[in-house]
Amino acid sequence: MNVPTPEPLPVDLEKAIRNADARIAPFGRAVHYFHEVGSTNDVAAGLADRGAPEGTVVVAASQTAGRGRLGRNWYSPADAGLYVSVICRNRIAAPFLTLSGGVAVAAAIRTATGLPVEIKWPNDIVVSAAGGFGARRKLAGILAEACTGPDGLQFVVLGIGINLRPAAYPPALAARATSLEAELGRAVDAVPLLIEVLAAFAELFASLTAGKQEVVLDRWRALAPSARGARVRCDTGQGAVTGITAGIADDGALLVRTDGGTERIVAGEVHWR
Ligand code: BTN
Repeated sequence: MNVPTPEPLPVDLEKAIRNADARIAPFGRAVHYFHEVGSTNDVAAGLADRGAPEGTVVVAASQTAGRGRLGRNWYSPADAGLYVSVICRNRIAAPFLTLSGGVAVAAAIRTATGLPVEIKWPNDIVVSAAGGFGARRKLAGILAEACTGPDGLQFVVLGIGINLRPAAYPPALAARATSLEAELGRAVDAVPLLIEVLAAFAELFASLTAGKQEVVLDRWRALAPSARGARVRCDTGQGAVTGITAGIADDGALLVRTDGGTERIVAGEVHWR
């Protein structure tokens, strides 16, 4: 794949990354910035293929082919969202990086804005709302894409999309999506939020590298109340599973108690009932 030539970093981004080096390393040691790309995940994968080091970050102001989970599009108009991908090479399995991404984004939004967001399995960031789990709207998502070769896992690209302004999602999704600006009633600056995301992810990444998966699992469980005791239907690709959530297993699978026993959900979409 062709990798586009990066543009100079905006001054505020360059300065913020330099000032935060101790908190965000190894992330941010190399940052590739683009006004517009197809998908930051594709650019990051292309860079990783060419040997870009762990911690390389790709940021774009807009994406023309942003991807979401389950083959969906991620609507990414200019300056309406945060679109970022990071390269991980430490052979940590993608599900743990995905869970870490969810925890990092939720924690960063809470730190940077005070909004009490939650995680919906596996990694949707949703806004708490009156009216039960079903009333919650999606604010951000994480897409982990792994590349394997003859020697096993080569690298994982972790892509993060956060809706900053209402323009970040099409009106047809308005009932299910939201943005930081819509929730807070004020604009949120992308740069400090990005720094908090990278800092939170760097801390979790250090735990995973040290073999402390339980740190990530404990923090994920604390931020995901709907993973326990919620009535759900899970569309798994191999059929629907209906029941009550019973937490996540230590490999990140969602456990769902059904009439026939406890099912493990490893991929798919959860719908609250
Ligand atoms: C989801 O479906 O919830 C995951 C959305 C992930 C979107 C981000 S935006 C930056 C990165 N580049 C992409 O093409 N997708 C991810």
